[in-house]
Amino acid sequence: MSNSKADACNRLKELAARSPGLCIKDLMVEPGRVEQYSISAAGLHVDFSKHLVDDDVRSALLGLAESVGILDLAKQVFAGEPVNRTEHRAALHMAMREPSPDLDPETTNQIVAARERLKSVSDSIRKGSWSGSVITDVINIGIGGSDLGPHMACSALREFSDGPRCHFISNVDGAALLNLLDGLNPETTLPIVSSKTFTTSETMVNARTTLAWLKNSSKLARPEERCIAVTAYPDNARTFGIPTDQILTFPESIGGRYSLWSSIGLPVCIAIGYDAFSELLSGAAAMDDHFLSTPPDRNIPLTLGLLAVWYNNFLGAQSHAVIPYCQRLRLLIDHLQQLEMESNGKSVTLSGNQVETETGPVTWGQTGTNGQHAFFQLLHQGTRLIPVDFIGVIRDRLSNSSHHRLLLANMIAQSEALMLGASDENLHRHLPGNRPSTTILLDELTPATLGALIALYEHRVFTQAAIWDTNPYDQFGVELGKTLTGSILDGTGEHDASTLNLLIRAGLK
Ligand code: F6P
Repeated sequence: MSNSKADACNRLKELAARSPGLCIKDLMVEPGRVEQYSISAAGLHVDFSKHLVDDDVRSALLGLAESVGILDLAKQVFAGEPVNRTEHRAALHMAMREPSPDLDPETTNQIVAARERLKSVSDSIRKGSWSGSVITDVINIGIGGSDLGPHMACSALREFSDGPRCHFISNVDGAALLNLLDGLNPETTLPIVSSKTFTTSETMVNARTTLAWLKNSSKLARPEERCIAVTAYPDNARTFGIPTDQILTFPESIGGRYSLWSSIGLPVCIAIGYDAFSELLSGAAAMDDHFLSTPPDRNIPLTLGLLAVWYNNFLGAQSHAVIPYCQRLRLLIDHLQQLEMESNGKSVTLSGNQVETETGPVTWGQTGTNGQHAFFQLLHQGTRLIPVDFIGVIRDRLSNSSHHRLLLANMIAQSEALMLGASDENLHRHLPGNRPSTTILLDELTPATLGALIALYEHRVFTQAAIWDTNPYDQFGVELGKTLTGSILDGTGEHDASTLNLLIRAGLK
């Protein structure tokens, strides 16, 4: 650890030791608090004034950011440098939104060509001219990043959806797939098999079942010909039987959880059209630009990443709740769980040493107001420190005034209640308050503001990883479970007593 980083950490430890003296209510009456602790950019307004942070903590956090050169590291990501050091790759998600002029021309050309392909394929599906058949329903078959991003974006952008219906199958639970297929017309249904590797067993099994359904219930002799593949490994899709001209690709330097911006976004393009999809990319690019070029003290993702580090590493918080007050953003929580926990669930630094601090906290949440009637009790009176992100949409054309006023009033009241608390001599009724939250307001839920919101969280993840010196782009931890599943199914594994007993009871042995 550099001296300047060690100094910044020591300063933050000192400040954390006196943090019980910090009172958000008192900080709030300081002149200019809300202006100085709020930032607007890319159609988002972020208020982080309700935090256990004063000017001393803020400047120490900014000192920590400077000691690791976060914004210079971000510029390396944007320029396409091999920042994913454990896999010797770049991380090209920002380039998919807006290729950097520093990118090598071959990569830029590939990105441009992939976008043109995305446009022509989605246009023809929407116009009913794809492979000569009208498509009423699309099934995206994929899991993890090959499902969560596009599924979330299709739900969030329902207002803009004027194309074929998009369905998403991720779990290998056959009941879900068979139930969906039951209600679809095989003559007008298009399966999209989305898998970066095109080896993920759940996706391959779901795809084969869907192809068998197409074959049995339509006149198609070769159902693969009615199927699109999206993958970074086209040879694997060809081996599966998908014709070459029905394979859309993307660079292997795009991680699954960062792949919404690539050809993996095909269902979104089909649902809302390529122009609206381009606005999603532009909104994310506007947030990239804000992140890369705004001074640290007015930089939204940097600030939210530093706040996350403050709570996690200095005040002992173990989790972080995300509460969107918009039902169409329900799947944002699932997307952020993969983005944050797969990226930052790490224990080893980039140089191969065990980390000496806690890394990624647990991300969880639920939409408001549903969460209020489920777990908010713990937020208000439990013993854990849980910083909350409230996300609200100021104008919602799909709602009406009476609903929307009630929804937003609830959100703002909850952030106020967490901060204020309520004194009562009866301790059962006492709410301690002083509980921190950020409020993120979107002017409207549009492709552009959704893009900016997701990019904000990507950079928040990046900021934390940069401070911990961990790699947010690999996920080796998920491999062992996949290998053991394989050995259970092919009967080659040796098992402990508990596992063996469970396998016998489950009829797998
Ligand atoms: O198992 C985790 C994971 O590798 C994710 O990182 C990825 O998004 C998901 O599986 C799906 O992988 P693929 O797109 O290769 O099917």
